[in-house]
Amino acid sequence: MSVVERLHAHFGEAPRSAVVLGSGLSFLREMVQDSLSKGYGALGLPQTAVAGHAGELVVGTLGNERVALLAGRIHSYEGRPMDEVVAAVRSLQAWGVQRIVLTNAAGSANPDFVPGDIMLVDDHLNFQGRSPLVGPPPEQGVFFPDMSNAYDTRLRERAVEHAIVLNIPLRRGVYAAMLGPAYETPAEIRMLRRLGADAVGMSTVPEVLALARLGTPVVAFSLISNLGAGLSPTPLHHAEVQDTAQAAGGKLGSLITALINSD
Ligand code: HPA
Repeated sequence: MSVVERLHAHFGEAPRSAVVLGSGLSFLREMVQDSLSKGYGALGLPQTAVAGHAGELVVGTLGNERVALLAGRIHSYEGRPMDEVVAAVRSLQAWGVQRIVLTNAAGSANPDFVPGDIMLVDDHLNFQGRSPLVGPPPEQGVFFPDMSNAYDTRLRERAVEHAIVLNIPLRRGVYAAMLGPAYETPAEIRMLRRLGADAVGMSTVPEVLALARLGTPVVAFSLISNLGAGLSPTPLHHAEVQDTAQAAGGKLGSLITALINSD
């Protein structure tokens, strides 16, 4: 059975929206009602390995809208093929999901940002040195996708409107994707800042590239979990990233709920 056949067999029709949960951003799982879940392995999807990324697909209701949550993602730094990194979002698209919300925990490069801030991603810089689009011409989608609207303009406008209504402060900016798994050096954070980055992380961009090829609208949010290296007097730990993400996750959950419940 193909992944899509398994998705149909287990969950039925595809929901309109899906959300990819980043490091420590499991908040939405608790907000989803009447949920069904299935491990990635049982769905024929590649499995995850990092703490805080459980690796299961959850389908349930958020507000009044049915939604799929990808709890756990594969990162480029695990050394897995890029096709594995983006397999889950490609399968959601093939199943029939029409728009995808991506979330991540990120360090700040913009000195005005503080841990707990939410940043709407307007654009990105890909410093991973790899792309899931490298390969022969695809069977589906465009070989050379336009990236000028990679983060869907209409979804971003809606996100800003909902944030105002919900009184949630929303930053906007450019996300720089690094390969990792080491956090950046202070010199790298200074470089990224000069090149236009506001937030720095190790995910999201591969999925955005894969979905740009397929023409699936995406919107992405970075939860600023820590100051970028050199901006903070203390060393960085994965546990700190997860804790801050969890503490600030509630308001991002409300914002995403409002967004996927509107048109
Ligand atoms: N750098 C890269 N990735 C991250 C960071 C960071 O500071 N915080 C969370 N993910």
